[in-house]
Amino acid sequence: MSRRGLLLLFLCCGLTASRPSPPLAPPLAPPCAVVQMEVSCSDRALHSAPSDLPRGIRSLDLSRNRLQNLSQETLSFHTDLHLLNLHGNKIHFIQPGLFAHMPRLQVLDLSRNHLSALAEHRTPLGPLGTVQSLDLSGNGLFTGMTDVFLHDSPQLVNLSLSGNSITKISGDAFRGAASLQKVDLHNNVVMEIEAGAFDSLFHLSDLDLSKNSINCITDFDLRSLRTLNLSQNSLEMFQSSPSDQVSELLSLDLSQNNLPLLPLLPRNNRLERLDVSRNQIQSVNVTGSYGGQMFFFCTCLAPPPSVTKHHTCFHHLRFLDMSYNNFQSLPECLFHTMLSLEVLNVSNNCIASFSISRDLLLPKVLVLDLSENSLQTFQISPGSLQSLQELYLSGNSLAVLDSRSFQSLANLRLLHLQRNDIQVCPHAGESSESSESGESGETSSSCTAFQSIPSLEFLDLSENNLLRLPPDAFQNTPLKHLDLSTNPGLVLHRDSFSGLENSLVHLFLKENNLTELNSDLSALTRLKYVDLSTNQLTTLPPWSRQSSIESLNLQNNNLVTLEQSTVLALERSLKTLYVGANPLRCCSNLAFLHLLQRSAVVVADIEAVTCLYLEDSPPVSIEKVTQEMCEDLHNGSVNVVMAVMAALVLAVALALIVKCCQARRRRRRMRSYRA
Ligand SMILES: *[C@@H]1O[C@H](CO)[C@@H](O)[C@H](O)[C@H]1NC(C)=O
Ligand SMILES: *[C@@H]1O[C@H](CO)[C@@H](O)[C@H](O)[C@H]1NC(C)=O
Ligand SMILES: *[C@@H]1O[C@H](CO)[C@@H](O)[C@H](O)[C@H]1NC(C)=O
Ligand SMILES: *[C@@H]1O[C@H](CO)[C@@H](O)[C@H](O)[C@H]1NC(C)=O
Ligand SMILES: *[C@@H]1O[C@H](CO)[C@@H](O)[C@H](O)[C@H]1NC(C)=O
Ligand SMILES: *[C@@H]1O[C@H](CO)[C@@H](O)[C@H](O)[C@H]1NC(C)=O
Repeated sequence: MSRRGLLLLFLCCGLTASRPSPPLAPPLAPPCAVVQMEVSCSDRALHSAPSDLPRGIRSLDLSRNRLQNLSQETLSFHTDLHLLNLHGNKIHFIQPGLFAHMPRLQVLDLSRNHLSALAEHRTPLGPLGTVQSLDLSGNGLFTGMTDVFLHDSPQLVNLSLSGNSITKISGDAFRGAASLQKVDLHNNVVMEIEAGAFDSLFHLSDLDLSKNSINCITDFDLRSLRTLNLSQNSLEMFQSSPSDQVSELLSLDLSQNNLPLLPLLPRNNRLERLDVSRNQIQSVNVTGSYGGQMFFFCTCLAPPPSVTKHHTCFHHLRFLDMSYNNFQSLPECLFHTMLSLEVLNVSNNCIASFSISRDLLLPKVLVLDLSENSLQTFQISPGSLQSLQELYLSGNSLAVLDSRSFQSLANLRLLHLQRNDIQVCPHAGESSESSESGESGETSSSCTAFQSIPSLEFLDLSENNLLRLPPDAFQNTPLKHLDLSTNPGLVLHRDSFSGLENSLVHLFLKENNLTELNSDLSALTRLKYVDLSTNQLTTLPPWSRQSSIESLNLQNNNLVTLEQSTVLALERSLKTLYVGANPLRCCSNLAFLHLLQRSAVVVADIEAVTCLYLEDSPPVSIEKVTQEMCEDLHNGSVNVVMAVMAALVLAVALALIVKCCQARRRRRRMRSYRA
């Protein structure tokens, strides 16, 4: 044996000797965690509950193990359990009557097992005398299995059957579980609900039928129901029964269906939340009729007086989502009864005009989303929408907005106007100035004023083809966040931002093709985040030391030097800088280099920051540049100049000496002539 072989052997022995357990023992799964009377044995590859658990445990978690055949034996004869979690095993058989031996069992989780094998033999799960919450999701169960399974579950309150293959809810599906309050049938293939299937469930309050294949609900009459989720079906109709009884329904989700008309809701409702987003609704007309009489969603469709009492009122509605439909218009009358509405979302429709002429309409609306429509007009009477805080108007065709609308919205904080065609009006007092200066001067009919909107903090005017920003454009509007990006060709005035000195924090001016920035941003004492990327800036405006800018984006401009005074002013407050994709000169930016190396500023895109030593030299990473390299470059040129100068001086000196000598010789000669 070679010496190396011996050494290896020795090393191996050394390793095994230092290990605490014998080297060949199989890895032991850690023992179950026992905390008081609660035991967790999940993820331990167990085929049954360990036999050494304390007696009298209340909660046993055996999820994600390998149990197949559930019996008293596999559960180690524990009978005091309140909670038993068997999620994610391979259980296909349960000893009949097993749970009758557990008189305290309340919560039973059998989700993600193979119980369809059991159900196929029509073997009941129960009796489940005391179980209140049962999870049977993901077991491959299909129609007709649940009625046998649940035939003796008198205390059952919560039941989940989600992720199975149930196609029909038969009339007797829940007959053995009369206390049910919450039933989850999400993600099955339910196409049919037999009449009376839920009739015996007097306490049913929460029904989730989302992600199924239901295409029609008629005669909806589950009066105790508080939430109903029918999202992601193929509904083409939703009709309530013509009853005057009070409906308890608070939340109805009908999103992602094929409804061509609005649902016909219980007349006497207290609905708070209605989601009909992502359907094909075109108008505020309503599906069907009550007992032969036409029903209208909205009072202004003016049916004959005799029908008036059949209007549904929405006095309690707080949230209404009608986004992603085909609405062309929204008649004002739709809102007449919506006195509690807080959120109205009609984004992504084809609405061309929105107007509210009546005072005091929608008094509680906080959020109004009209984005991604084809709005050309937006008009609201000064007394309406008095609580409005957030207004989304992006992605429309708005060119002119009556600024009085905004000025009357005392609580408006956030205004999204990106992707429209808006121009900003000059300050009322200065309109004469612009006409004097020969510009045509926007008249109030072709521009929108943003002054004196009392609470406005956020304004997005990006992508509007804005031409110029007049002086004092936002006077008396306490903006904190202003986005003017992607308005190429935008002309800023020196005083465009005046009035925002004590409020503005975020300013976005990217993609504006700006060649210079003539407003003094350091006068904006609160300004912290500035984005000037993707412009044509060759210099930065002078910056004063009052500046409190923390993040500055200068990427993709034409900056050659960053002035020493600017760098010094920024150094105080700056934390993050972006400056990649600029034709910086290496050695004219020594102050900036210093900033990079000595201060706390983080250049976030440092890998992309390059500079040029000479005009035609290849770009080098700015991190590689040192002061010495620039000094050498500098000294090198000085030496040449010195040499040339020295040579010149020498030449002149020589010339002088030669001249001098000649003169002397001549004088001598002259003297000798005299002599
Ligand atoms: C399950 O276990 C019980 C008792 O141990 C046994 O009688 C029964 O045959 C087993 N069933 C299956 C399907 O393995
Ligand atoms: C039933 O479900 C609801 C909501 O998920 C929960 O708050 C309640 O505690 C559950 N009831 C029981 C008995 O498990
Ligand atoms: C209805 O179900 C869908 C799909 O599970 C879910 O995304 C949505 O949040 C539910 N709606 C409500 C109001 O809870
Ligand atoms: C809406 O109802 C009115 C009045 O009944 C009717 O004239 C109109 O055609 C309906 N519109 C649609 C889209 O059904
Ligand atoms: C309005 O609905 C759309 C689509 O569902 C959603 O993206 C948007 O966030 C909603 N608007 C508000 C203000 O919540
Ligand atoms: C950007 O400005 C340059 C000159 O400064 C001009 O040639 C170019 O057309 C402008 N581009 C746009 C999109 O305005």
